[in-house]
Amino acid sequence: MRILLIGKNGQLGWELNRTLLTLGELTAVDYPQLDLANLESMRSLIREFKPGIIVNAAAYTNVDTAESEPELARKINALAPGVMVEEARKLNAALIHYSTDYVFDGTKSGPYVETDTPNPINVYGATKLAGERAVQQIGGSYLIFRTSWVYSLRQGGFVTKVLQWAREQETLRIVDDQIGSPTWARMLAEATSHVIAQGRDEAVEYIKEKAGLYHLAGGGSCSRYEWAKTILELDPKKEEQVVKELLPVKSSEFPSPAVRPANTGLDCGIAKEQFHFYIAKWDITYRYAS
Ligand SMILES: NC(=O)c1ccc[n+]([C@@H]2O[C@H](COP(=O)([O-])OP(=O)(O)OC[C@H]3O[C@@H](n4cnc5c(N)ncnc54)[C@H](OP(=O)(O)O)[C@@H]3O)[C@@H](O)[C@H]2O)c1
Repeated sequence: MRILLIGKNGQLGWELNRTLLTLGELTAVDYPQLDLANLESMRSLIREFKPGIIVNAAAYTNVDTAESEPELARKINALAPGVMVEEARKLNAALIHYSTDYVFDGTKSGPYVETDTPNPINVYGATKLAGERAVQQIGGSYLIFRTSWVYSLRQGGFVTKVLQWAREQETLRIVDDQIGSPTWARMLAEATSHVIAQGRDEAVEYIKEKAGLYHLAGGGSCSRYEWAKTILELDPKKEEQVVKELLPVKSSEFPSPAVRPANTGLDCGIAKEQFHFYIAKWDITYRYAS
């Protein structure tokens, strides 16, 4: 089976580029080899490559700059997945795509389930929701994994920022009024590969039987402050830290172009049951990641 991985250099894509390797003939691409904003060149690439499975780990993920580049974010997050699923359907192939907890407004008191009504409060969330809907509308053999607070220890994101700040600043102020489910990129990549492996030679049919949108994130939830505390505690090079205190603060102290939802923990019960996943609590997973 031919697998086309789009977005191989991102946090998730980098891991997928390794976990997918044993499952088929893998070709992995990223910007600028493939520009998702150029919908027709993406269409041509898919037609030329004729994959059995497309895994799309690429997205416009900068939540703040999306506010001033809504059109570009819409092309990459909403229109491109629509073209992918359209082409996948024509080829009798499957699409595995990822979405975000930021489709929710964050006002629910407990974790969100798949049937909760999305109500994005920023451009990024709105464009990702439009991407989900584009994929669902065309349908066929597809999976959308809605995830939350994706991290990797090797690049970008919250973990590497906290570790860097801890080496530069004596006082760290981290918000305690944003709650989410930290998700290790490798765990997400392993879970994706597990799904493909379960389908074996009939993976496209298997995905079609299971087609739909599922929450898939680290178990439980925490605030950014609690997460930062764990990151500092488990830092393997703690002796490099200069930080002396970690203070909980409110999001209003850090005005940013995009508003962030307050509580976006995800309930992953349906994915666990459907795909026989074991999902460890976020802090246990973080221990393994670090
Ligand atoms: N990060 C999170 O906290 C989080 C939370 C919830 C859901 N998600 C979702 O999870 C998925 C993976 O996220 P991630 O954290 O791994 O993202 P990431 O690290 O930001 O990687 C995104 C990848 O997409 C590529 N890309 C951006 N614009 C492109 C374009 N025009 N054409 C082709 N490729 C392009 C990027 O390439 P360049 O680096 O060259 O731009 C990068 O390799 C995404 O669907 C995201 O929406 C992420």
